[in-house]
Amino acid sequence: MHSDTAPDARHTASGAAAPQTPTWDPGQYLRHADHRARPFLDLLARVGALPTAPARIADLGCGPGNVTALLTGRWPDARITGYDLSPQMLRRAEEEYAGPTPGGGSLDFRHGDLADWVPGEPYDLIVSNAALQWVPGHPGSFARWIDGLRPGGTFAFQVPGNFTAPSHRLLAELCDTPRWRDRLGGLAARHTDTLEPGEYLDRLTGLGCTADVWETTYHQLLQGPDPVLDWVKGTALRPVLTTLGDDRPAVDRFLAEYRRALREAYPPGPRGTVFPFRRVFAVARKEA
Ligand SMILES: C[S@@+](CC[C@H](N)C(=O)[O-])C[C@H]1O[C@@H](n2cnc3c(N)ncnc32)[C@H](O)[C@@H]1O
Repeated sequence: MHSDTAPDARHTASGAAAPQTPTWDPGQYLRHADHRARPFLDLLARVGALPTAPARIADLGCGPGNVTALLTGRWPDARITGYDLSPQMLRRAEEEYAGPTPGGGSLDFRHGDLADWVPGEPYDLIVSNAALQWVPGHPGSFARWIDGLRPGGTFAFQVPGNFTAPSHRLLAELCDTPRWRDRLGGLAARHTDTLEPGEYLDRLTGLGCTADVWETTYHQLLQGPDPVLDWVKGTALRPVLTTLGDDRPAVDRFLAEYRRALREAYPPGPRGTVFPFRRVFAVARKEA
C-alpha cells in the first residue's frame, strides 16, 4: 500500500455534516465472501485471451484483495495491481496477498481514487468488481481507461443493479424519516450512480469496443439470524455506520429499526433467507 487516507470530514454551508468517505470493515465484508466472489468469476469467464503475456492487469476497487488474487488462477504469470481508496481494505489485501505469485507473477496493492485514476502504463486487462457503484460519474472515465488498454485489451466490470430492491429502498426510507433525516438524509441514495445494461452497452460500443453486457439475478440463500442486515453491514450500510461513528446508542437504534424492516421484507424460510441480488456485467474489448 502506498499511502493511507483518513475519511474525509466535510461540512455543508449550513454546518451539517456532509457525507464522509465510508470506512470499510474487511472482516465484515468477507463474511459473505463466497457470494460476493461468484459474480467476479462469472465476469472473468467472459474475458477472452489477453494481448500480451505475461499480462499487466489492474483491479479497480480491489477491496480486501481476495478477488484480485483469483486473477492469478487464470493468468498465473501476470503482474497485477489492485487499487483502492480504503486504508482498511488495502491493509488486509497487502497482509494476505501482496508479493510474488506461484506462477512467476506478482500482486501489489496501491492507494488510488477511481474518480481520477488514470492508467499509468499500458494494461492488458482493467477489471472492477462491485466497486464502480461507489464512484459517481464513473462512465465518464471509460474513455481514459480504455485509452490505457493495449490494442486487443479488455475492460471488464460488474456493478450491483439492486438499488430499488427492498434492502436499499428501506435503508433510504429510514435515513429520510424525521428521526434520522438531520444526520442521515439522502445518504443511502448517494451511490446509485449506475447505468442500465443497455446504457453501458451504448457507452462502450460508442468508444469503439466490442461489448458483451448482461445482467443476472442471484437468488442467494443466506444463513443465520438477520443475514440481510449482516450482508449490508459490509456494504450499503457503510456510509450510515461511518456517519454515526462511535455514537453507539444511535447505531443500535438505527440498526434495530432497519433490522425490523428487513425481517419483514426478507422472512427466513425453512432452508435459509432468500436475498435476490441483481448484478450488471460488461466486458469490452478494444480493437486489436
Ligand atoms: C464492495 S467493495 C468490492 C471489493 C472487491 N472488488 C470485491 O469484489 O470484493 C467496494 C470497494 O470499492 C472501494 N472504493 C469505493 N470508492 C472508491 C474510489 N473512489 N476509489 C477507489 N476505490 C473505491 C471501496 O474502498 C471498497 O474496497
